[in-house]
Amino acid sequence: MGRKIWVFDTTLRDGEQVPGAKLNLYEKVEIAQQLKKLGVDIIEAGFPASSQGDFDAVKAVAQKVGNTNDIMITALARAVQADIDSVYNAVKYAENPMIHMVLGTSDIHVEKKFSKSKDQILQIGVDAVKYAKTLLPQVQYSTEDASRSDFEYLWKTIEAVMKAGATMINVPDTVGFAEPEEFGAMIYKLNDRMKNLNDSVLLSVHCHNDLGMATANTLAAIKNGADKVECTINGIGERAGNAALEEVVMALKTRSSVYNAETRINTKEIMNTSRLVSSFMGLDVQVNKAITGDNAFAHSSGIHQDGLLKSRDAYEIVHPEDVGLDDMELVLTARSGRHAVKNALEKLGFSNLATDEFEGVFEGFLKLADAKKEVYDHDLYVIVENYYEKHD
Ligand code: KIV
Ligand code: ZN
Repeated sequence: MGRKIWVFDTTLRDGEQVPGAKLNLYEKVEIAQQLKKLGVDIIEAGFPASSQGDFDAVKAVAQKVGNTNDIMITALARAVQADIDSVYNAVKYAENPMIHMVLGTSDIHVEKKFSKSKDQILQIGVDAVKYAKTLLPQVQYSTEDASRSDFEYLWKTIEAVMKAGATMINVPDTVGFAEPEEFGAMIYKLNDRMKNLNDSVLLSVHCHNDLGMATANTLAAIKNGADKVECTINGIGERAGNAALEEVVMALKTRSSVYNAETRINTKEIMNTSRLVSSFMGLDVQVNKAITGDNAFAHSSGIHQDGLLKSRDAYEIVHPEDVGLDDMELVLTARSGRHAVKNALEKLGFSNLATDEFEGVFEGFLKLADAKKEVYDHDLYVIVENYYEKHD
């Protein structure tokens, strides 16, 4: 058994920040139900202070999905009393509610965004945590833009909010600026100091994908002691998105000897969740997206198809059944060899073709594949039929 990694899903908050991806209350609750089935530990259901509609949706998620003890429901607040009240009033219906607040720690945020001193921002954070703790026992503090912050100021903030009662510290790479080795080293140092101060406080990371490194940075953080990861389904989220839940989870499972860490995600629910999110949000999944893309388990090269039919391990490191798909897909093209075509014919029930019959059908297949690029099951029926018509 590896170390437990908590999975915090923010599809309904950071994911919903994707332009055009607005969900109604019913869709939010449906997705939250599916996330619960998937086995996430925490659902961030929205940003209730942003609108009445979002407040109502977060409240509905807390009531309908947060009604059991095996899941925590949270929502986002800025470090101001009105936002914190709004989160509290929406999530308090859950069995296990949490307030999540965010305040920047980088010089850019402190000086340019807030026009305040570092000491003033730190005090605002501490006061906000103390206030949130009067409402709920579970409070997460996010140090926005942590990866571009002065390390000693970042630590001073974390130390102060931990002393004020924060139960989870989330370290965001808000603009996807981090690089895995550097981010891992930062998490290592923070983890060391945090565990010395209070080892019951969870260290979390939240990585964005602006340079395509969200998953790599998240995994580097896990290697260096992070207890919790924030992710979204299909990696959706602000700008280039967030670390994709399915990539992080399947990397931990597939390379378990490297990470020695595990989640409680039921990986067989990954495809169902991906499709539900994609269809409700109207966001297509990139075809070559790792794990959930249409081509993630499709093999088209003849050499690969032949190898796979001999041993799936030859070209398959994640098994499609493990993420809830029926089987790998062999896409028949002009580059598919005899082995793949024979296999497809057998699956359709043509298992007793004599050698000359098969060669005739294969010739018909190559002609069609040249003309049409991809050959499907219904095409194979026609090819076989044509062959027999000519040779009757
Ligand atoms: O990217 C970010 O910093 C965030 C915080 C609210 C955690 O989304
Ligand atoms: Zn974010």
